[in-house]
Amino acid sequence: QGDFACLLVTGGAGFIGSNFVRFVLREHRLPHIVVFDKFTYAANLKSLSGVDLERLDIVEGDICDVAQVEQVITDYGVDAIVNFAAESHNDNAICDPAPFISTNVVGTYVLLEAARRHNLRFHQVSTDEVYGDLALDDSSRFTERSPYRPSGPYAASKAAADHLVRAWHRTYGSRVTISNSSNNYGPRQHVEKFIPRQITNILCGVRPKLYGDGRAVRDWIAVEDNCTAIWEVLTRGEIGRTYLIGADGERSNIQVLRMILERMGRPVDEFDWVRDRPGADRRYALNASGIRDQLGWRPRCADFAVGLDETIAWYRDHADWWMPSKAETEDKYQREGH
Ligand code: NAD
Ligand code: DAU
Repeated sequence: QGDFACLLVTGGAGFIGSNFVRFVLREHRLPHIVVFDKFTYAANLKSLSGVDLERLDIVEGDICDVAQVEQVITDYGVDAIVNFAAESHNDNAICDPAPFISTNVVGTYVLLEAARRHNLRFHQVSTDEVYGDLALDDSSRFTERSPYRPSGPYAASKAAADHLVRAWHRTYGSRVTISNSSNNYGPRQHVEKFIPRQITNILCGVRPKLYGDGRAVRDWIAVEDNCTAIWEVLTRGEIGRTYLIGADGERSNIQVLRMILERMGRPVDEFDWVRDRPGADRRYALNASGIRDQLGWRPRCADFAVGLDETIAWYRDHADWWMPSKAETEDKYQREGH
């Protein structure tokens, strides 16, 4: 099942997609990769620099465009698709849900239909947010059997996409899998997201910003670990199945922020409290025993403090990567009261 000659990686110029492409080219002999990306504000061509270009093609295109999708599949002889392409940021979804519905829902539908026409293997990259949130005093964790209960427009659009993927498997027998991962962190993440925003604020001499009461909990996983897990599911996963990907990394936002401040040599109370998101999710936590038991997958970077140090070092050394989008991102946040 895992012998693909040509893999279409949609959204491959974004955070997780580019880390996935780098990982596959570095650690696996096959396949050839075609990145298919719309190059929205969230993409960065520099994220794909320094890789083996003999095994990589980069095509600009929109997953909502049937003709463009058809063309890239036939031009390159694609035999599998991994769909990372999405609008991914909750704050943006609250301000304007429209692109989330088109890319995350309609785009996934267009890819599923293309996969069906060409009988391609299809993997959908999804999120734990489809399961809604847990209370802070509830010690349970999401499993593959948890009900879908998305809270915000981003989560609802990803849940809709998951439903389409499952329906295409049951109705048409499409060869699909889904992975729902928890919050990723690591190199090449856009500065709009929590961890890189705070690191780059400190590097710029700006005070970090903490939403609400800072007690919300996220279940952090190193992006490299999500990439190894997606590879295992793509190449060895059971068709039609959903896999949860997490690394037991639960921490409150204020804990994470204080760790960042401390490691960057700043006082732990040197930050601003700002307003929370409407309908903000409190706690995410994943039980990833399914992928551990069935595929034997284990995270490689289980120590969050070490991963955070590496992430801080990466942003310190790569200002050329993030600086061009920093001012615009902070201007937008300021207009929104964040
Ligand atoms: P990102 O925003 O960094 O990257 C998204 C990429 O998709 C960008 O390169 C963008 O240009 C591209 N894109 C957007 N619309 C497109 C379109 N219509 N056609 C083609 N390309 C398009 O996102 P990310 O954080 O790397 O997330 C990747 C996937 O993983 C998403 O599906 C997201 O829902 C999911 N996910 C993310 C996390 C996380 O913590 N970041 C956790 C779980 C799941
Ligand atoms: O759980 C998986 C999801 O994780 C993915 O599906 C999303 O694509 C990804 O963006 C992420 O969503 P979150 O909303 O959890 O991530 P974000 O980095 O935006 O925020 C994490 C937490 O930090 C959240 O509780 C809000 C808070 N926050 C965020 C920002 C940007 C702050 O306190 N300050 C900030 O400046």
